[in-house]
Amino acid sequence: MPTAIDVFAKVRGHERAEQLRAAREADLLPYFRRLEGPAGPIVEMEGAERIMLGSNNYLGLTADPRVIEGARAALDRYGTGLTGSRFLNGTIDLHLQLEAELAAWMGTEEAIVFTTGHQANVGTLGTLLGPGDTVIADSGDHASILDGCLLSRAKLRPFRHGRLDKLEKMLERADEDGGGVLVVVDGVFSMEGDVADLPRIVELCRAHGARLMVDEAHGAGVLGARGAGASELLGVERDVDLRMGTFSKSLASCGGFIAGTHEVIDYLRVTSRAFMFTAAAVPAAVGAALAALRIVRSEEGPQLFGRVLENAAYLSEGLSQLGFQVIEDEHTTTIVPVIVGDDWKAVLLWRALYDAGVYVNVALHPAVPPAGALLRTSVMATHDRATLDRALGAFAEVKRRFEAEHGPLPA
Ligand SMILES: Cc1ncc(COP(=O)(O)O)c(C=O)c1O
Repeated sequence: MPTAIDVFAKVRGHERAEQLRAAREADLLPYFRRLEGPAGPIVEMEGAERIMLGSNNYLGLTADPRVIEGARAALDRYGTGLTGSRFLNGTIDLHLQLEAELAAWMGTEEAIVFTTGHQANVGTLGTLLGPGDTVIADSGDHASILDGCLLSRAKLRPFRHGRLDKLEKMLERADEDGGGVLVVVDGVFSMEGDVADLPRIVELCRAHGARLMVDEAHGAGVLGARGAGASELLGVERDVDLRMGTFSKSLASCGGFIAGTHEVIDYLRVTSRAFMFTAAAVPAAVGAALAALRIVRSEEGPQLFGRVLENAAYLSEGLSQLGFQVIEDEHTTTIVPVIVGDDWKAVLLWRALYDAGVYVNVALHPAVPPAGALLRTSVMATHDRATLDRALGAFAEVKRRFEAEHGPLPA
């Protein structure tokens, strides 16, 4: 007998459908807004100029002529696409140079380049872990980490964001699970912008014989003297077994990497399905990432890291002085989150800022805990003070009008 259930039924009455419809109707949807020019500190978006406080182009290198030339030279030499996997016909010399330079930057034996950062996480966790193993993850970890953990079918033991007492408990439980144990955390958490307490996490992993993987997507190109990320900043590079990074933030391109020992990286090369069964990134993406990495590793790198972090501190201070509730951490990062709490208020505030010429990202549940809606603002090294002051002026005006109509925002 044919099935009576249509698998598409769920697309009709899902939980978010009503919200999505209402937001679209009121033109309040903060997602899929149309960019009409380069991803700079000020962008053209839907017919107006807006200050970009919602980008991961932390060093502003997508507009750097050397990075553009890196992309163009790769395009001219190799054409528009590689039309095959790294494993087969998709590896070019630029991949090999990039992998060698990434490993030198991270101070590891080797590195492997994936087509996206998401695939780097899925293709590593889903390959190294198996049903007999245990993986312990912070609840604030990026979705791609969770996807990799689920794919692996390892026993997943999550712990509340930043609660290392809970991590310790999970490690104790994992001792009894009987398989290998991996702890995986973001070095810088992508929504809250806080830095993981890696020295303590290393200590706990050591005590329990667990391996440690750190996702440096938001730390690489920003933190530490070499810009190698949170592991470098906190002096634990040698104690972290695997470091993941992306090209889609400071490195001004698209792609991802894993850095670690020769034996692990070589294993991934011949077993990771997200590496082997997908096309290699287009040559222009690889050429751009390589050119950006060379800038990051040059004398210019630390100046750029300094500039973006000064901008973040300036924005954070300015927003706090205006009475916004800004999440603060011991370490400044490029991410300056403003707590709003209620989802609908966050969307209304986003729209008011958008109309006032400032673009920010809105993070709603499940990207953040329930009732933890926030505006995720982030800065670039290429924002100047006048632009940040203009943005702060818009925040001040929007807050005044918003609170008059909707009541006080969290302070
Ligand atoms: C912490 C973290 N890890 C991994 C990724 C995935 O990287 P990509 O977007 O380059 O695929 C992201 C991107 O949003 C991220 O923020």
